[in-house]
Amino acid sequence: MIWGEILSRRFAIIGHEVPAKGGFSLNDLSGSSGRLDVLLRAVNSALFISHGIREDTQIVLHLEGAGSRRIKFDGKSLKGVHPDERSIAGQVRAVTKSQIPPVGVWQEYSRGITHSGGSIGETLQEWSQEGCEIFIMDANGTPLENFSFGEKSGFVLSDHKPFTNAESDLMCNFESTSLGEKWLQGHSCITIVHHHLDRH
Ligand SMILES: C[S@@+](CC[C@H](N)C(=O)[O-])C[C@H]1O[C@@H](n2cnc3c(N)ncnc32)[C@H](O)[C@@H]1O
Repeated sequence: MIWGEILSRRFAIIGHEVPAKGGFSLNDLSGSSGRLDVLLRAVNSALFISHGIREDTQIVLHLEGAGSRRIKFDGKSLKGVHPDERSIAGQVRAVTKSQIPPVGVWQEYSRGITHSGGSIGETLQEWSQEGCEIFIMDANGTPLENFSFGEKSGFVLSDHKPFTNAESDLMCNFESTSLGEKWLQGHSCITIVHHHLDRH
């Protein structure tokens, strides 16, 4: 790692009840869309800074309501998305109206937005194969400041619900990291992780 080189970051967030297909109402992002609002705030915190976008960051939304679909936003190539919830929700809704691609096939929806079938297990596998060091965000984990971060770091968060037992089983071989004993909202966790990596 060269001093001053930007560390690339990935975030994955699991929306346990967000519909994977069929669209939803843009007027009810915290209700009938299964708390999509939580995922939208995560996209906002992961990718947008005051005047621009974090080109070193990707976020994968996991939509696990009525099927499984992953939507990846990649700061390096993202175009036409603005940091307001409705704009991001509009993109997600449009993606959910299309067919779910096969697991592991990342199909482009628009510049910087791709989608694929699969769940967190596939994301963990892909990240590992791509040399990304994975951390599970958990208030009971090891303090974030105890780790040093390599070139590619990935952080996994849940939405308003705890990780399921099946998800916890898939993640049990990775380090879990804590930002303190108080449970915070997911998007706040992302901002804190960025702040920490920006300073190191
Ligand atoms: C709103 S919290 C979920 C709270 C949920 N009731 C639970 O028990 O997991 C959303 C996610 O943010 C992350 N998170 C929240 N507080 C954290 C903390 N203090 N340290 C590390 N991660 C945290 C976790 O991944 C958590 O699943």
